[in-house]
Amino acid sequence: MRKALCLAAFAATLSPALGAAFGYNSGAQKPGGVKNQADYENEFRAAKALEGAPAGGFTSVRLFTMLQDENAGNNPIEAIPAAIATNMRLLLGLWASAGSAKFDRELEALVTAVNRYGDAFIKLVDGISVGSEDLYRNSDAVEEGSNPGANPQVIVGYIQKVRQRLSSTKLRAPIGHVDTWTAWVNGSNAAVVTACDWVGMDAYPYWQSTALPNNAIEQSPRLFQDALDKTRAASQGKPVWITETGHPVSGRTWGQSVASVENAKRYWNEVGCPRFGKEPIWWYKFQGDQAGDQPNFGITPPGQLTTKPLFDISCKPPSSSSPVPLPVTTGRPGAGVPSTESSSNVTTSSGVRNSPRSDVSSPPPSTSTGSTILLNGTVSATSSSPATNTNGAGLTTGSVGGVFAALLAVVFAV
Ligand SMILES: *[C@@H]1O[C@H](CO)[C@@H](O)[C@H](O)[C@H]1NC(C)=O
Ligand SMILES: *[C@@H]1O[C@H](CO)[C@@H](O)[C@H](O)[C@H]1NC(C)=O
Ligand SMILES: *[C@@H]1O[C@H](CO)[C@@H](O)[C@H](O)[C@H]1NC(C)=O
Repeated sequence: MRKALCLAAFAATLSPALGAAFGYNSGAQKPGGVKNQADYENEFRAAKALEGAPAGGFTSVRLFTMLQDENAGNNPIEAIPAAIATNMRLLLGLWASAGSAKFDRELEALVTAVNRYGDAFIKLVDGISVGSEDLYRNSDAVEEGSNPGANPQVIVGYIQKVRQRLSSTKLRAPIGHVDTWTAWVNGSNAAVVTACDWVGMDAYPYWQSTALPNNAIEQSPRLFQDALDKTRAASQGKPVWITETGHPVSGRTWGQSVASVENAKRYWNEVGCPRFGKEPIWWYKFQGDQAGDQPNFGITPPGQLTTKPLFDISCKPPSSSSPVPLPVTTGRPGAGVPSTESSSNVTTSSGVRNSPRSDVSSPPPSTSTGSTILLNGTVSATSSSPATNTNGAGLTTGSVGGVFAALLAVVFAV
């Protein structure tokens, strides 16, 4: 009881700041490897200086792993010193779908970071997510033999382990779990809700190809609200944080949802703007992956890091008399996405979201190309694709499950 009261009081003191969290998702990969501290610093500086952004730019970054090198050691991810250097807030993530030995390394990396960086780090932490879409990947909606997830009992055990381990450190941050809205509304996962301080919801109307009457862009605000309402109803009164959402600026049409800059802007205006600064939200995503058939969710183009978004993100009503929602374009996937063909430092990225099927059954193809001109003019390869955590058996991609919401929607729509 006392513990519950303390928690509640703690949550209450936290919520004002968190209510303003305006973040984005950042993977650990860059073309050809993993991001280092300089990559993160440059990315964070660009994201904080994003032109026209509400709140003057992104204020928080969601990570998918605590490990800088998933294959060796417990070194904390270099996003942490980069966040300290740039005063960027963090929603930390521990990868939870690669077995308990790997999870223990994630946890040790977190503890190492607390001990190494102390208050400078601790004061930046918005929260800690134990896992990302593990329940989704564990569900019937995902093909057997695909990227592994974790079952609810495993996630509950990990959450308890994190609470226990952190209780002997100075880090006191609310602990939750991120999953697709469809996983949260699945009553078989209720024990995870119970174990969480907060519930992180990933929702993408774009992927809901079986939604009724359809998932065309004009349905997006309603479909998103519906996902949020249902997740809240399943949240046992815990705060629901929007941990991933967005709309692709280019790529294939999914159901009746067209990927285009115009639609991404409309989604930003109609789903994002009413919530920015009011509820915690981490957009998917800041910098895009390659152009082409794969849906590209970046509000800035792949390749070159820039502070100039692909569309007006100011949330201001247009100064002209034109109505806020832009006209829906019909089927011009790829519109507005700069080519990255001519880049010199061409490398590949494995952190790219792919079609649900390919994500389910195999590592994402390495198709991203691009070099990056840093803000200070240096050229370097970077990307903000989701973290990719591999284990001995193969590759799982941080946050790929949001993609699978489409498949889950099939299950829940019938
Ligand atoms: C630009 O930033 C990178 C990464 O932080 C750094 O290594 C490099 O020295 C900087 N270049 C200049 C010209 O300041
Ligand atoms: C509901 O959750 C359970 C436990 O995570 C999972 O086994 C099951 O497949 C889920 N059901 C659906 C329809 O996804
Ligand atoms: C390509 O990247 C390497 C390593 O990051 C760097 O040393 C080199 O200058 C880059 N090449 C160009 C043309 O920018």
